Amino acid sequence: MDKKTKADEYIKNNSHKISNQPAFHLIPPIGWMNDPNGFSMFQGEYHLFYQHYPYDTQWNFMHWGHAKSKDLIQWQHLPVALAPDCLYDFGGCFSGSAIEKDGKLYVMYTGHLDPNLGLDLDLDQVRQNQNIAISEDGLSLKKYRHNPVLDEKSLPSNAQVQDFRDPKIFKKEDKYYAVIASKHMDTTGQILLYESEDMLEWTFVSVLAKCDPEAEEMWECPDCFELDGQDVLIVSAIALGKQQDTYRCAYRIGKIDDKYVFNEQYVASLDMGFDFYAPQSMLDDKGRRLLVGWLQMSDTTLLPKHGWAGMMSLPRELYIREGKLYQRPIDELKKYRRNRVNYSDEKISGTRIFEGVHGNCIECEIHMDALNATKFGLSILKNDDCETLIYYDKEQGQLIFDRTNSGIVSKDREHIKKIDVDLIQNQLKLRVFIDRISVEIFVNDGEYVLSSTVFPLEDASSIEFFSDDGIQLVELNHWTIITE
Ligand code: FRU
Repeated sequence: MDKKTKADEYIKNNSHKISNQPAFHLIPPIGWMNDPNGFSMFQGEYHLFYQHYPYDTQWNFMHWGHAKSKDLIQWQHLPVALAPDCLYDFGGCFSGSAIEKDGKLYVMYTGHLDPNLGLDLDLDQVRQNQNIAISEDGLSLKKYRHNPVLDEKSLPSNAQVQDFRDPKIFKKEDKYYAVIASKHMDTTGQILLYESEDMLEWTFVSVLAKCDPEAEEMWECPDCFELDGQDVLIVSAIALGKQQDTYRCAYRIGKIDDKYVFNEQYVASLDMGFDFYAPQSMLDDKGRRLLVGWLQMSDTTLLPKHGWAGMMSLPRELYIREGKLYQRPIDELKKYRRNRVNYSDEKISGTRIFEGVHGNCIECEIHMDALNATKFGLSILKNDDCETLIYYDKEQGQLIFDRTNSGIVSKDREHIKKIDVDLIQNQLKLRVFIDRISVEIFVNDGEYVLSSTVFPLEDASSIEFFSDDGIQLVELNHWTIITE
C-alpha cells in the first residue's frame, strides 16, 4: 500500500479514539501536528494544510494533513495531501505554502532528505530541496514530475546545503516570489528570495534578510507581505545556545529596496506567549491579511494520552497601527458566541467570582480600571489544586501570565511570562479565549497577544478576579463558544 493510502486508512480506522478535543481550534484527526502549511483560498473556501504524523503524538516523518473551511472556525478534515514517498522527499514533506493560479492550487514544499533516516547521525548528509505539487480539485495534490524545482545547486555560494526550507510563495504584479529559510556559511540564518514567471522555473534573486549572529542560529518559516503600505517579514527563530530571551517568532516592519533587501524599521515579538511558532499568513477574498500559527504543545511526553498533539491558533486578522503590528481574532468567531453574561461597573476588592463566568471553552472580554491597585487580574482554569494567572503589576508596568500551578507542568521549562504593557488612561483591556488546553490573550485591542498551552486538572474551570486594592470592572462580557 502506498504511504498516502496507508495514512488515510490509519486515520479512518483510528481517529474515533482521540479525546479532549478543543471546541473551536483545528487539531489533527489523530496523531501529531506542527506548522501550518499552504494556508490559502481555493474556489471560495479556506484551505489549511499542516505538518502531520498520524501514527504517533510525536514528530516523525512528515506528511501534509489537510482541512478546509468556509469560515475558518469549523474545519472539515480531508485526505492526507502529501506523503514522503519520492526520492526527493523521503525524509519528510516539510513546510511550504500554496497559492491559486489559473484555477489550480499550486503548492511549494520542502523535501527533506536524510540518509540516516531521521537519526541525524551525520548532519553533513542532510539535504533540503523545494518541490511543486498541484491540485485541480482542492482535494488531491499531484507532485510535479520535474521536482525538485530548487535544490542545492540553486543556492548562493554563501549558503549551507543542509538548511534550505519552508518556502512561502506570494505574487506581486505578474511575478511569483518565494522566501525560503537558509543558513549562511557563518552559521546564522538568512532568508533567500527567488522568483518565477510560471511557478515551475525558479531563479535566485537576493538575500532578503540575515539574522543577528549573536542572537539567533537559524530562521525558519519566513513569511513576507505588504500591509497598510509597509513590507512585513515574519520569521521563527531557533536560538539554541544563544541569548535566552530572543524573539521566538518575530515580525519586522520595513521596506524592500530596489536591490531586494529588506530594510528593517521596527522589530518585535509576534506573540508573547509560550506556544506560538511558524505562523503563516494569507490574503483572503475580503482583503484581510489573516494569520495562523502552530499553538505548540510544550512537552508532549508529560501529557495525558488523548491521541493527538498540536493545534492551530485562532486565525487572526493583521493590521498596522502606529508602526506596530496589531492582531485581532477574526470576526467569524462572534457567530459562535452563546449565553452572554454581562457585568458592568462592578468593584473588585480582594477576590471575586461572578455568577455565570466560568468554563473551559469560552471567550471573555474584560475591561478594567486599575484605580489605586498595584496588582489586579484573574485566575482561570481554576479548582482547589490548580490555576492559571493573568494579572497586571502596575509597579513593573507588566502584564504577567503565570502557568506555574496550571495543572500538569514540565519541571524543566519557564512558566512565567512578563510583558511590558502600558495601561491606557489607567485601564486594561483583555480578550481571553480559553479552549480546554489553550489560552490566547489579546491585550489592548491586539497590541500584544499571548498564546500558550496549559494542562489543567480535570474539572478546573472556575474564574476568579482579584486585586490588592479596589479596582473597577468597567465591563465584562462572557460567552461560551459552541461550534456544533
Ligand atoms: C518548524 C519546522 C520547519 C520544518 C518543519 C518540519 O517547526 O522545523 O522548519 O519545515 O518544522 O516539520
